Amino acid sequence: MYLEHFTVRNVRNISDALLDPSPSLNLIHGSNGSGKTSLLEALHLLLVGRSFRNQHRFRSLVQEGTDECLVVGRFRRDDGQTDRLGVRRNIAEKAEAKLNGERVRSIAQLASIAPVQVLDSDLVEMVLGPPALRRQLIDWGLFHVEHSFLSLWRQADRALKQRNGALRHGKIDYSQIELWSLEYARYGALLGQSRQEYVEALTVQLDPVLQQVAPSMAAQVRLEYTQGWSGDSDQLRQQLLDSIDRDVQLGQTRVGPHRADIKIRIAGALASDVLSRGQLKLIAAAVRLAQVRLLYARTRKAGLVLVDDLPAELDKQYRSALWAAIGATPGQHFITCIEPDEVAHSWGHHAPPQMFHVEHGIVS
Ligand SMILES: Nc1ncnc2c1ncn2[C@@H]1O[C@H](COP(=O)(O)OP(=O)(O)OP(=O)(O)O)[C@@H](O)[C@H]1O
Ligand SMILES: [Mg+2]
Repeated sequence: MYLEHFTVRNVRNISDALLDPSPSLNLIHGSNGSGKTSLLEALHLLLVGRSFRNQHRFRSLVQEGTDECLVVGRFRRDDGQTDRLGVRRNIAEKAEAKLNGERVRSIAQLASIAPVQVLDSDLVEMVLGPPALRRQLIDWGLFHVEHSFLSLWRQADRALKQRNGALRHGKIDYSQIELWSLEYARYGALLGQSRQEYVEALTVQLDPVLQQVAPSMAAQVRLEYTQGWSGDSDQLRQQLLDSIDRDVQLGQTRVGPHRADIKIRIAGALASDVLSRGQLKLIAAAVRLAQVRLLYARTRKAGLVLVDDLPAELDKQYRSALWAAIGATPGQHFITCIEPDEVAHSWGHHAPPQMFHVEHGIVS
């Protein structure tokens, strides 16, 4: 499935735009402040229901002086049929999405329509930022690959919230805490197992991407998954039961899959301690591309890859290796750049890129 047509109304400085993108590479070029990122923001709004830069400040997506923005896309499915998706965002209300005229009920339903990955200048946060970002990364992959994942995640999340609620309740009811400990151990262990398998499969996909973008580091980079507790599912249950008194004092659950993380190591050391920002950015980009490749290998779904301002901090050699790796990743790519020639040259793809020029919010 790919996006074959979309229209944008009142997203940041883009008042009205209409695009027929290519199923593979789309280059969005223009000078600083022309509206390139705004166009990617419009796509992200369509696919995820919010901005990729300001998760909580949706107001900034709506063009100043207007009340709402609207993005409508037409997807061509592999069976030749089309789906029409529209997302409207009002400054006062939540996003409202419709798929083929029917209301989309949740953000999860919207996100399941087309998988999207963003590679932008904040990419390095994936390595340097809090563990929650890396858990999101794993969960993105599982959400799009395993049908049962969302309900498993929700059951584990509910049990954790109930346990935390019981820990903080004025009058402590130990039987309630025990009950939710068992529930959390049950779903949490399954969640941990799924995540472990995902990281193992991701490692397999990551190797060839790293060989392409950073061959000198490739053999030394390792993803180390930590599940949030020590041992197997029985041990999670035991650790949750044993820690009740201490958790009551702290008012929170200290072991479980909500503490999971991925440590990125290079030759044994933490990548964040020893690598430069440019090198970390390359590794983070390689991980995201490996996720898109894994998604395709498992489901034959081609993701939409939004690449914004990525080459900042990368030298020419790394940039061209990265463009080639993006080109070798199955997916519909939307890449912003100031000078499109460099990307087009390194692409190594048979189909010529579709070019979009942006100037003062006008796309041509
Ligand atoms: N809510 C808004 N309403 C109107 N204009 C906005 C809004 N938010 C941002 N803008 C403006 O939109 C313009 C385009 O911004 P955008 O980030 O898309 O530029 P860009 O082409 O990506 O530039 P750069 O190459 O510097 O990254 C900017 O001048 C910005 O100030
Ligand atoms: Mg920009």
